[in-house]
Amino acid sequence: MVLEVPTTIEPTLDQRKVLLSIRNLHVWYELRRFGFGIVGYVRAVDDVSFDLHRGEAIAVVGESGCGKSTLMKTILGLVRPREGSVTFEGKEIGQADQATLKWYRSQVGYIQQDPYGALPPFMSVRRILEEPLVIAGMKDGKERLERIHRVMEEVKLYPVEDFLGKFPHMLSGGQQQRVVIARAMILNPKLIVADEPVSMLDASVRVEILKLLRGLQESHHLSFIYITHDLSTVKYFSERIFVMYAGKLVEQSPIGELLKNPLHPYTHALLSATSDPDARNALSFREVPPGEPPSLVKPPPGCRFHPRCAQMIEGLCEIDEPPEFTPVPDHRVACWLHKE
Ligand SMILES: Nc1ncnc2c1ncn2[C@@H]1O[C@H](COP(=O)(O)OP(=O)(O)O)[C@@H](O)[C@H]1O
Ligand code: SF4
Ligand SMILES: [Mg+2]
Repeated sequence: MVLEVPTTIEPTLDQRKVLLSIRNLHVWYELRRFGFGIVGYVRAVDDVSFDLHRGEAIAVVGESGCGKSTLMKTILGLVRPREGSVTFEGKEIGQADQATLKWYRSQVGYIQQDPYGALPPFMSVRRILEEPLVIAGMKDGKERLERIHRVMEEVKLYPVEDFLGKFPHMLSGGQQQRVVIARAMILNPKLIVADEPVSMLDASVRVEILKLLRGLQESHHLSFIYITHDLSTVKYFSERIFVMYAGKLVEQSPIGELLKNPLHPYTHALLSATSDPDARNALSFREVPPGEPPSLVKPPPGCRFHPRCAQMIEGLCEIDEPPEFTPVPDHRVACWLHKE
């Protein structure tokens, strides 16, 4: 159930802790064909709602193409929603003007999937990290350099002097991603959005980078959104986990509860138990369910998972879209099997 935040009365303590609030978010891309104009829409995010609290780390998981990056780009103010709202500290971001967006971008850090693509090739590490400080109005060069030193040490790019003059192509993939993380941290943000931050790195540095991010999240009490198609990595971050399928959130719950008690057939299909004694390490990707994720231009009617679901209820699932049910406190699922 969506928590409505009334605007006319004093918010409760719980509501005050909300940093980011997403309500009924729809993000569609236009499909154009030369000579015909708009011929359809890709419904990449379709009616998504959730709250993120201060200092909370959540993970959004789902197969490639399910709309994770679109959801994040909308949260970052890079893509405008067709409908619905994104509010940060009570300010509307989805339709914000340039001045609000400038303020917002100083509050939010973004860590992209491809560190090399994310870094300007002709700028040194020092310039890459100095630019946001200049834009934010930090006039004192000494103060800027001190800040750069501090953040580079935090992301373990040291000795700092050895890295300041280097260009992105002179760094390893792991070092490039540390520069991206330093840039995301340089303005002391309240929220970090990390979109598949280790999927393009060598396996040997993935865990180190994930641990670094977790350490920064905890020491700075950051809110953190971690996006991944790889369920085995969510243990580094999430207190809550959101499962996304074909543009929709189909299940959300605290991570321990989701592991013990996955409710949606799609989540079941993503999880497989291993003999690992650490229950949190039991998360891994099994083979994804048979069949392909559906087209987001013409998604299936009813439950979008029904063409792939072994438990589909005929006469219901292919006709009516399941609303969210909460069969267990704090555990929501959009599936007719859990109708209250
Ligand atoms: N700029 C765009 N124009 C049109 N379609 C897009 C664009 N970006 C993404 N899409 C489509 O939107 C859907 C969701 O994509 P994306 O958000 O990148 O998913 P994910 O990050 O989960 O892989 C996909 O079908 C993708 O092809
Ligand atoms: S609503 Fe029906 S088709 Fe969808 S996941 Fe649940 S049982 Fe399967
Ligand atoms: Mg993506």
